[in-house]
Amino acid sequence: MNVAAHVPVCEANKWHVHKIKGSILKSIFRIDIHEQNTHQYNTKSIVGMNVAAHEPVWEANKWYVHKIAMCNWGDIILEYIKKQLSFLKSENLYRGDFKNLCCAQGAKVVIDKREIILFGSNNYLGLSDEPTLKNAAIEAIKMYGTGAGGSRLTTGSYILNEKLEEEISKFKGTESSLVYNTGYMANLGIIQALCNKDWVVFCDKYNHASIIDGCILSGAKLLRYKHCDMIDLSNKIKEFKGKYNLIITDGVFSMDGDVAPLSHIVKLAKEHDIITMVDDAHGLGVLGENGAGTASYFGVEKEIDIHMGTLSKSIPSIGGYVSGKKHFIDYFNNFSRSFIFSTALPPSAISVSLKAIEIIKNDTYRRKNLLEISKRLKNNLLSSGFSVSNTVTPIISIIIGDTEKTIEFSESLYEDGIFIPAIRPPTVPKGTSRLRVSLMATHTLEDIDYLLDRLKYRGKRLGML
Ligand SMILES: Cc1ncc(COP(=O)(O)O)c(C=O)c1O
Repeated sequence: MNVAAHVPVCEANKWHVHKIKGSILKSIFRIDIHEQNTHQYNTKSIVGMNVAAHEPVWEANKWYVHKIAMCNWGDIILEYIKKQLSFLKSENLYRGDFKNLCCAQGAKVVIDKREIILFGSNNYLGLSDEPTLKNAAIEAIKMYGTGAGGSRLTTGSYILNEKLEEEISKFKGTESSLVYNTGYMANLGIIQALCNKDWVVFCDKYNHASIIDGCILSGAKLLRYKHCDMIDLSNKIKEFKGKYNLIITDGVFSMDGDVAPLSHIVKLAKEHDIITMVDDAHGLGVLGENGAGTASYFGVEKEIDIHMGTLSKSIPSIGGYVSGKKHFIDYFNNFSRSFIFSTALPPSAISVSLKAIEIIKNDTYRRKNLLEISKRLKNNLLSSGFSVSNTVTPIISIIIGDTEKTIEFSESLYEDGIFIPAIRPPTVPKGTSRLRVSLMATHTLEDIDYLLDRLKYRGKRLGML
């Protein structure tokens, strides 16, 4: 690198180079500059010193190069990270304020020594604090210890895993199942194993991030159709159908609580000979016969090729699963990297999931109560003038739009002893920031009425009603 050779370029554009340190090709340079008019200082970084190639970046004629110094990637990355974080803060999109719970997850929790009514949990059936589930974990620890010690394929697999997989298959009405460590890992593992660049994956625009990440990992062509829009899906299939094809949808959409039109989706899939996959993270335990999920709610269990779900929401443990025809499951067992190359779940977590499925199948009261209070809250919110997502589930989003206002609303409710998270982009589309209320079967009518009262009061004060 010959810096001198580039000086004329700088001069031609009226840059003044005050100081140059370092002269090695491919080195990283940090360049301090100041703007001619405002005299503001700024910093830019480039690799190597082909200043000419970077002319557009420097907005020729506007900037004076004040200082060029060699630096390292660490400095540059740190600079980048700081800028990204301060951007998030300036846009009210920064995340980092954890609310630390000092008790079991339930309708009422203790945070900072205060009792708070929690309306932000996916523990829909309120089973997290259930004594029989806690005992199941304790007994499993006594019997099998705390950790699994490695991947099931290399370390030896606890029989509990197979039992759980059998129970999931019975629950979902499928031939076989496989348990992953989280729902996120299940989506990554399923899609990565099945798809490659020869595949086209048709995804609802509001599908969960883990589905999108699985598609990216697989190298498949990802086509996102408009949310629940069957005309758009049909058009996209006609236009872009590839050699191998897959339609993936959430059963219940996590941020709106609405339900995917599965009957239409399976019809389209049949017409065009396409494989279907449903992520039922939020439908299991809540919808369908005995809580078997969204496919059961529509009576299309048999028509879905790949059922995926989590063991971390209505089932209050940790894990994810895939369920379907035996050959599919054998295939995932052999090709899902997130399953093969990760230590299995602790036996206590498996044991809790097993017990929870038993409770969910037999306890219709919780589900019935959950759906009833959800309906009551949604109808009351609508009649009070709130803009509410089109939901039939315990996920009820109050759409605010503006991010700052959403945060202010959430914080004002917290003062009243209510915790509802403010959901912002990129989790939801820009301009649709919202309060995502999620109910539990253990919320009482008094909890719901208090919530309504405070929402109306705070909403009016903030000029939203
Ligand atoms: C629709 C959906 N799929 C998958 C996941 C990931 O599941 P897990 O939390 O078990 O990793 C989530 C949420 O957390 C989700 O909402």
